[in-house]
Amino acid sequence: MKITFLGHAALHIEFEGTHIIVDPFITGNPLASHIDINTLKADYILVTHAHQDHILDVETIAKNTGATIVANYEVAMHYGAKDFNVFAMNHGGTYTTDMFAAKYVNAIHTSSFPDGSYGGQPGGFVFTANGKSIYIAGDTALTYDMKLIPLQTKLNLAILPIGDTFTMGIDDAIIASDFVECDTILGYHYDSFPPIKIDQSEAKQKFADRHKELVLLGIGDSLEV
Ligand code: NI
Ligand code: MN
Repeated sequence: MKITFLGHAALHIEFEGTHIIVDPFITGNPLASHIDINTLKADYILVTHAHQDHILDVETIAKNTGATIVANYEVAMHYGAKDFNVFAMNHGGTYTTDMFAAKYVNAIHTSSFPDGSYGGQPGGFVFTANGKSIYIAGDTALTYDMKLIPLQTKLNLAILPIGDTFTMGIDDAIIASDFVECDTILGYHYDSFPPIKIDQSEAKQKFADRHKELVLLGIGDSLEV
């Protein structure tokens, strides 16, 4: 599968003609001003939690594409009430289609909508398609629950927040990559706002010192899993 970084925690995943967008926050991100959300393809939109920096462009993209919004129960009901196509799930559950499986797993964080209304409990996804699996951690602290993932799934890529302040920072993300038993890490949720600015070369070196690879993509750039 091809994974494109759309800035902050937004991703585009493509395989065999299926298009999935995760946590679209693009029009509010000055660093992503070259990404035109009206050209993005999506069959599904995965949402990890209700914070503004993960949902800002959900409605526009869902309107443009007719994509199904896959999220925890409260986030799904929020969009279902606005007549979007939704699939509601909760922790431990897996959304399975002919093309992929997405399991909603725990994250240590919060999940209110921008107006303060309840957004359920935050999560991440273990996403499997074409025999490859990736962990999309969402916004989370380091948590022992991550150790559950490799009991069932051999990951090809771990997508981890590394910006600190609102999520794990680099040192905890290194431990998280140990917990999920994956040495190829795509970093996200950094540099978008002053409190989550990182030193990119120092971050890569810290992972390299532990014989791990931290990939940091330019916004709009892709990697293949
Ligand atoms: Ni958040
Ligand atoms: Mn966030």
